[in-house]
Amino acid sequence: MTVLSASNHPGWESCGNGVLNEQQAAKLAERHGTPLFLYDAAAMRCAVTSLRNALPPDAILFYAVKANPVPGVIGVFAGMGLGAEVASAAELDLALACGIPPEKIVFSGPAKTEAELEPAVMAGIYAVQAESWDELQLLQSICRSRELHARVALRVNLGPNARGERRSGWGGVSPFGMDDETLRHVVAHAHEVDRVRIIGVHHHLSSQSATAEQLVERFDAFAQVALQLRAQLDLEFVNFGGGFAAPFYADDRPLDLAPLRTYFLGLRQPEGRFGNWRPTIGVESGRYLTGPAGFYIARVISIKRSFGVRFAFLDGGVHHALGLSGAMRSLRRPVRAWRLGNPTAAPLEPTELAGPLCTPIDRLASAVDLPSDLRPGDLVVFANCGAYGKHASPLTFLGHDWPAEVLIDGPRASLVAPRMRCADLPGLRPGTHARVPI
Ligand SMILES: Cc1ncc(COP(=O)(O)O)c(C=O)c1O
Repeated sequence: MTVLSASNHPGWESCGNGVLNEQQAAKLAERHGTPLFLYDAAAMRCAVTSLRNALPPDAILFYAVKANPVPGVIGVFAGMGLGAEVASAAELDLALACGIPPEKIVFSGPAKTEAELEPAVMAGIYAVQAESWDELQLLQSICRSRELHARVALRVNLGPNARGERRSGWGGVSPFGMDDETLRHVVAHAHEVDRVRIIGVHHHLSSQSATAEQLVERFDAFAQVALQLRAQLDLEFVNFGGGFAAPFYADDRPLDLAPLRTYFLGLRQPEGRFGNWRPTIGVESGRYLTGPAGFYIARVISIKRSFGVRFAFLDGGVHHALGLSGAMRSLRRPVRAWRLGNPTAAPLEPTELAGPLCTPIDRLASAVDLPSDLRPGDLVVFANCGAYGKHASPLTFLGHDWPAEVLIDGPRASLVAPRMRCADLPGLRPGTHARVPI
């Protein structure tokens, strides 16, 4: 029986070349219903090991919880000693509850509220990654009223023309980070926020960097700014952010981590960018660690032709896997999907895979070669759906059930999130309205 495999690219190490065969995956889909997400803990661990091998041994690898916030998944990374990058109070609670110690947590986000910052400071997290002078002042006021001190890393915006930048909406005029002028202001006025200790700098620029060379260019442009700021502030932490690419579309190539390893090794050589400076190095990663470890399985509901083109309609769609629609990417590209189990000698036929939503964006994949005997009831599996899938999708749009999520860890399978009916959500449940004063 064929093994469920994240990628057919030669060179994509055994990460994700699964522990499950397709028959077992089909059984899980029967038991927990479709659509269904399956995650492979071994593939996640394998990705952690690959990324760690490219980093200095004492670097902190933060798991970017937004990529997949399911506690069972966070638990895999907590068990390997990773830190967490969180971007809301809920993610902070999750990371702590899953066993990630506060001193390994950083908190990002362009508009953090007092209600989010206060518990983060009280928990004693490693650093709040501050995005503005206003945020530093808010932290100062929280710390004053609670008699606390906060540790902060300044999120830097390198501007639109920095090396390694590409037009992504993250750098240059964007909601993220502090530009040169703000940084100068912070340096000049840091003494006014005496309860806020600026311990480091942070930079993050978009997901899915095209190549390792591009990442290295961007990292080095940031390292230069870190070095300049170090002359004015007492910095001990440099967080290079995320963006480590993982294959998503069928024609994506795996990221070659060798240039990153060379860069990080060289950084702290006497003749390297940091010379004899020895800050703690941080990186954040979500997609690289969970993307290839996830599969999305949906069932064929019906098949029809539209002007000669074959459509297979599935019970899953972009309400669970928005990334597949191309909505989170600039271009729609070939998706890696195939019929689960049930091999036949039937010829292949290009097929559009569409979901049940009445919107034209509910197209999961285009021109996928699927057997001509594909029938209602068959299962179709999509690879590389472990990051920014269910939890980055418009789950309540049109009120379909939320899919269950199952984590495979060696011989064990755990239901890490049960199937849920939209109609059971407060606010969508009939009769849950309450009168309020005007
Ligand atoms: C601040 C920050 N760090 C890290 C990440 C993770 O990026 P990736 O999943 O591409 O590694 C993101 C993603 O949006 C982010 O906003």
